[in-house]
Amino acid sequence: MTMSARVVLVTGSTSGIGEATAQRFAEMGDSVVFNSRSSVEAGERLAAATPGSLYVRADIANPEECEGLLHRVLERYGQLDVLVNNAGVTKVINHRDLEAASVEVWREIFEVNVFGTWQLSVAAMPALKESHGSIVIVSSAASVRPTGSSIPYAVSKAALNHLTALLAKVVGPEVRVNAVAPGLIDTPWTADWDAVRGFVQSVAPLQRSGTSGDIADVIVGLTTTPYMTGQVVVVDGGLTLAI
Ligand SMILES: NC(=O)c1ccc[n+]([C@@H]2O[C@H](COP(=O)([O-])OP(=O)(O)OC[C@H]3O[C@@H](n4cnc5c(N)ncnc54)[C@H](OP(=O)(O)O)[C@@H]3O)[C@@H](O)[C@H]2O)c1
Repeated sequence: MTMSARVVLVTGSTSGIGEATAQRFAEMGDSVVFNSRSSVEAGERLAAATPGSLYVRADIANPEECEGLLHRVLERYGQLDVLVNNAGVTKVINHRDLEAASVEVWREIFEVNVFGTWQLSVAAMPALKESHGSIVIVSSAASVRPTGSSIPYAVSKAALNHLTALLAKVVGPEVRVNAVAPGLIDTPWTADWDAVRGFVQSVAPLQRSGTSGDIADVIVGLTTTPYMTGQVVVVDGGLTLAI
């Protein structure tokens, strides 16, 4: 199979890192499936502007909607080569405010970030085995440093790092699984995080926050690196060297 024949599903791709990643794959000639939970108009617009692509609304936290998403992809293209588990949620909570990080908050975050990633990966595995494809999981620098928008969020991303290793161990040799752990990236998610941005500019060796394109480049690279599996690549302008 040539690289241009790939079919790539990017979850949470109507905005930010997911959108930039889907666009990068499309620029390389891949067929891209856009997805989001609620921003249907943006998804339809992106798909209309991207030849050979498809938009499917689905909440990755919902098992039936995950199955439906996979069904639509296979019905349209007959194969899946790359799954980018990018969709995620958070709640900004000061780490010292233990009461605010209620079990309900933990559940909401884990439902999407961990359980959603798990169930979509499992549902996609037969197709990925057939295509000898790969999975890229979007983690966070908060998974490896005691930082991040809230404790439940950081722990959910640490769980994804271990999931990356455990999954990679059992789905080879057909399927590779890697993760990217971004530092502070300029997306709608972080639009009003000026204080954090200022901090990153002052302590990170590369003295800037990242762009969605910075992360998209690494995600695309992980799908074309045939001898790498089970790894978490931190992409943060060196921020974790300083905190
Ligand atoms: N920005 C950063 O600094 C940063 C740093 C480290 C890691 N990350 C990670 O990068 C990923 C993307 O973040 P971003 O900054 O690009 O965020 P963003 O611009 O807010 O985009 C999030 C995307 O995910 C979709 N989404 C949310 N929940 C979903 C669900 N249950 N099912 C399907 N789609 C869902 C959103 O669409 P709808 O809401 O319309 O459904 C949107 O398309 C997240 O996993 C985040 O944890 C971001």
